[in-house]
Amino acid sequence: MQKREHFGSRLAVILAMAGSAIGLGNIWRFPYQVGQNGGAAFILLYLAACLVLALPIFFAEAAIGRRSGSNVFGAMKKLAPGSPWKWVGLLTVITPLLLLSYYSVVGGWAVDYLYKACTFSFSGNTSGIFSNFISSTWEPLIAHTVFLALTAGVILMGVKKGIEKFTKITMPMLFILILVIMLFGLTLPGSWKGVEYLVKPDFSKITAEVAASAMGQAFFSLSLGIGTILTYASYMKKDENIVSSGTYTAFSDLLFAFLAGFVIMPAVFAAGIAPSEGAGLVFETLPYIFSQMHTGSVVAILFFVTILVAALTSSISLLEVGVAYMVEEKGWSRRRSTLVLAAGVWVVGALCSLSFGPLEGVKILGLGIFDFFDQFCSNWLMPLGGLLFTIFVGWYMRKADVRDELTSGGRFNRRIFGAVYFLIRYVAPVGIVMVFITNLIF
Ligand code: PHE
Repeated sequence: MQKREHFGSRLAVILAMAGSAIGLGNIWRFPYQVGQNGGAAFILLYLAACLVLALPIFFAEAAIGRRSGSNVFGAMKKLAPGSPWKWVGLLTVITPLLLLSYYSVVGGWAVDYLYKACTFSFSGNTSGIFSNFISSTWEPLIAHTVFLALTAGVILMGVKKGIEKFTKITMPMLFILILVIMLFGLTLPGSWKGVEYLVKPDFSKITAEVAASAMGQAFFSLSLGIGTILTYASYMKKDENIVSSGTYTAFSDLLFAFLAGFVIMPAVFAAGIAPSEGAGLVFETLPYIFSQMHTGSVVAILFFVTILVAALTSSISLLEVGVAYMVEEKGWSRRRSTLVLAAGVWVVGALCSLSFGPLEGVKILGLGIFDFFDQFCSNWLMPLGGLLFTIFVGWYMRKADVRDELTSGGRFNRRIFGAVYFLIRYVAPVGIVMVFITNLIF
């Protein structure tokens, strides 16, 4: 087997992890979740879920990854030999592939919109662009294929030359672009209503379902409970600081979600679209923004490049989990693993894509195929994975080993270790179980 690769520097680790975290979850999912779950009150719950539940899970997952230096399945085999924990590893090989299947459908929407921007389709009346597009059969399928092919392309190049290089160039670019577009969006007439919507909480909107969605969004956005952070951390060197890398990642992810919220919500109100519209919200709103700008088409091109890149730095992290597993556990080549897994993901993704068109009538538990996968992964599978990771680190691993990882052998975080360990051992698991139970009852 080939020698395992490592990320080259501390910055490279943070950028790759932030690259995984920042993606469609911030630009596409966050605004529509806020809109569906009642606005600012949801944002507060989301913040709490990130700090209290998500961050400890990040540390736990990263600790497992780096300690084992393995893929998700191998990590459990190594750290808990002969125990059923390896099945948890297997669960986290499958979840990211499921998630990638519908993720790459939305990635495809970004590909298609980039094409539309390049052919100046966002001038004049923009209503109906999105609904015509997703309800058709071939156009979204082709876009989905292109997106997955790009993802596979980066993965084929490897950890250092592929993932590391790509995220180093693209992450800083993302922040600059979103800021520029936000400043413009805030000048649109009627946009202040959107700002108000984001900052004035209405606490009567908080329900068990809203809390579960906030937790789901935190997991989705920070790429947790699904083996991605575990896999990336397995490429971290021993002397790097897991706690600070995690905190930087979470901070940049939150910041990016808020920026995206301030791009989308004001425009939603300016365009007179209902915030509770659902998964199409962003893709219905953006054409309107661009049609209102003098230099709209240039900005539109830049913006869809941005979304596309953000989506790619996340989708590669999803595919890498499965590829690392196939290479290390099954002895497959990186190339074969990438191509076979991408093909499987394509098929499931195609069903999700068609669920907005020809397969619209197909329902699973009352939801369309796409929505079912989205909710099942983020509200159930990811928190479940996160719960199991915290139980593993908090209750199964030896405390001394956990300390060794989280303090990098006593180098950092010695003072805060106790608090972090408490969060991992008690607060996060109890919090997740509580949300699960309330969700089941209601
Ligand atoms: N966090 C990514 C986003 O916000 C999605 C993702 C989830 C990536 C899980 C990897 C693992 O878009």
